[in-house]
Amino acid sequence: MCAAHDVAVPARTTVVRAPGKLYIAGEYAVVEAGYPAVLIAVDRYVQVRVSPARDTGHITSDQYASLSLEWHRRDNDMVIEPDQTPFDFVLAAIRVVEEAAVGLGASLELYDLDITSELDDDAGRKFGLGSSAAVTVATVRALCEHYRLDLTRMEQLKLALIASIEVQRSGSGGDVAASMFGGWIVYRAFDREWVRAERVARSLTEMLAIDWPGLEVSRIVPPDRLRLVVGWTGSPASTARLVSGVQARKGQRSVHYSRFLAESRSCVTELAEALGRDDGVGIAAGIRRNRELLRGLGEHSGITIETPKLQRLIETAEACGGAAKTSGAGGGDCGIVLIDRDADIDGMLAAWERADIRPLNLRVHQPEGTVE
Ligand code: PMV
Ligand code: MG
Repeated sequence: MCAAHDVAVPARTTVVRAPGKLYIAGEYAVVEAGYPAVLIAVDRYVQVRVSPARDTGHITSDQYASLSLEWHRRDNDMVIEPDQTPFDFVLAAIRVVEEAAVGLGASLELYDLDITSELDDDAGRKFGLGSSAAVTVATVRALCEHYRLDLTRMEQLKLALIASIEVQRSGSGGDVAASMFGGWIVYRAFDREWVRAERVARSLTEMLAIDWPGLEVSRIVPPDRLRLVVGWTGSPASTARLVSGVQARKGQRSVHYSRFLAESRSCVTELAEALGRDDGVGIAAGIRRNRELLRGLGEHSGITIETPKLQRLIETAEACGGAAKTSGAGGGDCGIVLIDRDADIDGMLAAWERADIRPLNLRVHQPEGTVE
């Protein structure tokens, strides 16, 4: 083997998987730079496999079984046909990592990239577990490994965030951070406008080296006694639509919106502290306060965050001694319950069944790598 080729083709295949996510607290406020949210990574994954290719690379996904994207390399450009593809996040991630690879002196290669998803199938997409973020993270991590770029998780997070803002107009990046770091995290949002402006002025390697205003990730180790139960309402919700609804109205209600932001910040900070010091009462209070803040935001913005079914999910959880709220943008998708591991949740589950709310059998995906 290893006959002389023009381009050295490494014989190895890289396989990486990235977990989905769920919001615990801090939604909507976290789209503003510097505001915190608590998230977890969940044990449902997107897997990316990268293997060397000769003349034509293929990008395939089990989500689009009939569609294989062909691409060619023209120097450092990817040439893709047809123009419009459903692989936006993957392609953005490839471009960003390759730009970094060139900046770091690696020579670019042709490869097949295959995506398998437990999040992006019909069911996963409906649950709202963050498939776009996970596919972005899995692609970034797989290619960093493929090109042997020795980047920290924080640097890889920055690459994934840059890739995602190239595709998505809104979004805090909390989902990307949860997928990158695993476990429980407190995420503080970066300033999208600052990144967009600096991205034009600086090289990508510089972007990785400098601190980004607002951006911060830290880990939380929650109490052992704490149990997380996730309920699915059966109706998918569009995060982009809900977030743009709130953003469009925030100016008209700026006093309320500023108060919401300040209160969300203090609530999430206190919740994170309570989680870290094993304070069950503080944890429950934090979840309940955040629920009220989100309900108030919904009312003031004319957006239904807590749908009647989510309300039912929450009230039945509260009746069993849990603390519960909507997760993520709401409007459907999932609600979360934090409850003592010894609490009897049979009554809650029976009420959920009557209300057609499905408990999701999810666990927290364990933390990976270090947070600087
Ligand atoms: O609905 P989800 O799980 O995609 O979460 C959205 C959370 C928001 O704070 C409303 C938006 C964001 O990008 O952080
Ligand atoms: Mg959602």
